[in-house]
Amino acid sequence: MQTNKAQRENWGTRFGFLMAATGSAVGLGNIWRFPYITGENGGSAFIIIYLLCIIAIGLSIMIAEFAVGRRTSLSAVGAYKSQNENWTFAGALGVLSAFFIMGFYPVVGGWSLAYVFKSATGLLAAPEAISSAFDAFAGATIEPLIWTIIYMVINVIIVAKGISGGIEKASKVLMPALFALLVIVIIKGINLPGASEGLAYLFKPDWSQVTGGTVLAALGQSFFTLSLGMGCMITYGSYLGKQERIPADATSVVAMDTMVAIMAGLAIFPALFAFGMEPTAGPGLVFVVVPAIFAHMGNVGPLISITFFAALTVAALTSSMSLLEVAVSYLIDEKKMNRKTATYLSAGIMTVMCILSSLSMGSLSGIKLFGVNFFDFFDILTDKIFLAIGGMLLTIFVGWFMRKEDLKNEITNNGTLPFGLFGVWYNIVKYVIPVVIAVVAIAGIAAIEQKSLMLFGLLVIVLLGVFSRKL
Ligand code: PHE
Repeated sequence: MQTNKAQRENWGTRFGFLMAATGSAVGLGNIWRFPYITGENGGSAFIIIYLLCIIAIGLSIMIAEFAVGRRTSLSAVGAYKSQNENWTFAGALGVLSAFFIMGFYPVVGGWSLAYVFKSATGLLAAPEAISSAFDAFAGATIEPLIWTIIYMVINVIIVAKGISGGIEKASKVLMPALFALLVIVIIKGINLPGASEGLAYLFKPDWSQVTGGTVLAALGQSFFTLSLGMGCMITYGSYLGKQERIPADATSVVAMDTMVAIMAGLAIFPALFAFGMEPTAGPGLVFVVVPAIFAHMGNVGPLISITFFAALTVAALTSSMSLLEVAVSYLIDEKKMNRKTATYLSAGIMTVMCILSSLSMGSLSGIKLFGVNFFDFFDILTDKIFLAIGGMLLTIFVGWFMRKEDLKNEITNNGTLPFGLFGVWYNIVKYVIPVVIAVVAIAGIAAIEQKSLMLFGLLVIVLLGVFSRKL
């Protein structure tokens, strides 16, 4: 471990790291998932609960993941293993989550990329056909596969170049571009007549709509959107220079991620209400409702639509790069592979999973695993169980199996950095978060329809524990 520390590649600059970590957090979770989940859960009240989860749980876990990563200078599996062999499985769960999320995420990334081109080639010309066009496209056999594979190849090219050369360089350009693009879409949207109803929907809470399911949805969304609970921020933290300030960095990543989610809401809901559409459109919200909104904008519509889907693709790319990196850094650190081989191997496996997910929207829709198709299998297992359990394991590990002094030194840069909230953070991580997540996970499994799938997920975690010594 010592030698590893000396040789480990670091982020080129603090800005580069921040952009990469923010890029990982900001993705389809913010722009594709956040608006439709907000829509399904009644708007403003959901957003308030989501913000509470982000501040009370997400921020503390992000600090913990950065600290564990930098302390060990190792990616998910090695980080746990180097501290305590029995905990290897918790890191392995993270790597498995990375593979599973990458089993469906690039499919949506591919749709997004496709919509950049579709926006330019007449998608908006027939507003009434937009919804059926999406169903036909997503359910087709070859076309979405081609886009998913192009999307995957872009990931591979960037990740194969390594940390500062590839991911950092790309993020530095792509993330600021995303902010600018969203601002343009928001300005267009809130200037439409009738947009104020959408603003009220976003900012005036209706508590009567809140149920236990709302809280669950909010907690799950906060993990997914901040890239927590699966070793991603451990891995990014492992490349972090010793002089960087972990609490400040984590706070800016969380703040920027939250800002983009709210911006995505502002980009979509005012316009949606202005056109009298339903906020409950579900996962198709971005791909069906948004182009329909743009189609009503006359000549500028296609340009705004191209811009919007370019932004979505950018956001998705910087996230999936980080997911791929979790798998790649595991193979490099633990299996001693070189970066290129590790990247090609991981991406190859992920591509096969994505092909199954993409086809499960159409020709393979009849094939069910535990009652769901391939796409939902990968999505639900990670989003509804692996990330939450992964986050709970991390807090238990940090709170109960690492030395408090070591953590304090790591987070305060050996005492040179004042962090008055260390005690508060430590107690939240040690006592509060594990209990809250356990309660929410149990309630979640009880509330969810796909119980056999959830039990399968738990079985996978147990099996990882049993075989962890081989990892
Ligand atoms: N946070 C990313 C998003 O919002 C998804 C992600 C999850 C990335 C977990 C890395 C790890 O799209």
